Amino acid sequence: MIITIDGPAAAGKGTISSYLSAKYKLAYFDTGMVYRAVGLQMVLTGTDLQNQEAAVAIARNLTFPQMMELSVHPDFRSDIGSNAASVVSAYPEVRSALLMMQQNFALNPVFADGSPASGAVYDGRDTGTVICPHANLKLFITATTEVRAMRRYKEFLQKGIITSYDKVLQDMIARDERDSKRSTAPLKPAEDAVIIDTSELDINAVIATIIPLVEAKL
Ligand code: DC
Repeated sequence: MIITIDGPAAAGKGTISSYLSAKYKLAYFDTGMVYRAVGLQMVLTGTDLQNQEAAVAIARNLTFPQMMELSVHPDFRSDIGSNAASVVSAYPEVRSALLMMQQNFALNPVFADGSPASGAVYDGRDTGTVICPHANLKLFITATTEVRAMRRYKEFLQKGIITSYDKVLQDMIARDERDSKRSTAPLKPAEDAVIIDTSELDINAVIATIIPLVEAKL
């Protein structure tokens, strides 16, 4: 069973993916991590984010263990890491270098402890369109930019990250623009995706909408 969950930042994909993977005992692949890992390595080595060749070289050498190691760095999920990920993810050769690593996970899905799983939940931007076009269920989770920026702003406050709502909103607008206008695998729903707008729904209502869709595929 492969479920893909795509959509813009802070739409609720991560929460939904974690819930579904726990409930249905599926492995979870947060595909944004591959771009965050490449972007953060550029930042940590002082490489200009516009240096596509360097980004491609890093992407070609990226391994799962390296990605997991980078994922505990404080800037992996900060605005610095998010911005770097968004920039490098627009480079077509970076995307193609990371394609197989993401697709292979569906062939041999594993839990975080390395034990095998019977399927996987993918979370990203192009997992239903490019990574797993034959997924059993494709969801596209979205919400208005203002609602998503407010959610992200509250998350930052909870983590003690000092910022302003306006800065988060501007960053969100810039990322959305880059993610949806890039030439390769732009953010868009797969033709057979179920689109769910979470702007006015709490997590319980979203889950209640999704469970019947999953059960129908079991
Ligand atoms: O989901 P996230 O916020 O961790 O993603 C970070 C960046 O990576 C995001 O700006 C777009 C990019 N990304 C992508 O292009 N394709 C994916 N499948 C996942 C993320």
